[in-house]
Amino acid sequence: MVMLGLLTPQTRGVKVFIKAFRQTNRPRCSSVSCHSDEYIRRFISDNTEIVGDQSLTPEVKLRLFTPTCRFWRERPELWPFEDPYWAIYWPGGQALSRFLLDNPSVCGGKTVLDLGSGCGATAIAAKLCGAAHVVANDIDTVAAVATHMNFELNGLEPPVCQTNNIIGSQPEGFDLIFLGDMFYDEDLATSLHSWLDRCIKTHGTKVLIGDPGRAQFEEHRIRRLLHQLAQFELPESVREENYGLTCSRVWCYRPEL
Ligand SMILES: C[S@@+](CC[C@H](N)C(=O)[O-])C[C@H]1O[C@@H](n2cnc3c(N)ncnc32)[C@H](O)[C@@H]1O
Repeated sequence: MVMLGLLTPQTRGVKVFIKAFRQTNRPRCSSVSCHSDEYIRRFISDNTEIVGDQSLTPEVKLRLFTPTCRFWRERPELWPFEDPYWAIYWPGGQALSRFLLDNPSVCGGKTVLDLGSGCGATAIAAKLCGAAHVVANDIDTVAAVATHMNFELNGLEPPVCQTNNIIGSQPEGFDLIFLGDMFYDEDLATSLHSWLDRCIKTHGTKVLIGDPGRAQFEEHRIRRLLHQLAQFELPESVREENYGLTCSRVWCYRPEL
């Protein structure tokens, strides 16, 4: 794999990491249909490292890709699953999780959805803060297994993990929806925007967004409708992996509809 340590400072970054997977013609597998849950667990366990203290939320332990992991250097075509977004703790999710842990009353007793949950860190933060019911939704089925494992790692009962695409579906009655680093693609941002409006209109759901200032987010029309709740400087190692990003912010979306 074209990996971070081998790249020049100008090209370093998790974008490159994901791109390396994208550019291969490796056969992709929707995981659960191709592999047993046990196989995926073992694969995640063998190919990630347990980390925590380098993020904005050192109290949350996660299994992630690090330079010590095989696929940091390995040829990407050998990777058997979809692009491993779940193996990175993204800056938007880090800020959102930090905000929740600093303000436990936000999700105490609430029914919450972490949409695009990846490694499950924000869902973990919500659970640690006393959320009554936590749903982690990610269309990558390997992310669901990683989320289960990360909940266990933190001594928590796994959440409900959904892997269907619920954007555009009939909104459920969540008190809160969390979106960590979900505005990285314009089309996704636009479909999210109209679905979030429906969730808010139907159930009065509160929406919190974490984003490190990505262009697709800053330039999207939803950006003008948000209220900033918090801003966090990214730790040095997170800056290095996300070249050009220095801070990450938490926003509330609750428009008058
Ligand atoms: C940039 S990652 C962010 C992960 C996590 N929230 C974080 O901040 O660390 C985006 C995640 O969204 C997921 N995703 C993309 N489209 C989705 C959709 N329509 N519904 C649910 N998840 C989706 C991807 O599989 C990926 O895990």
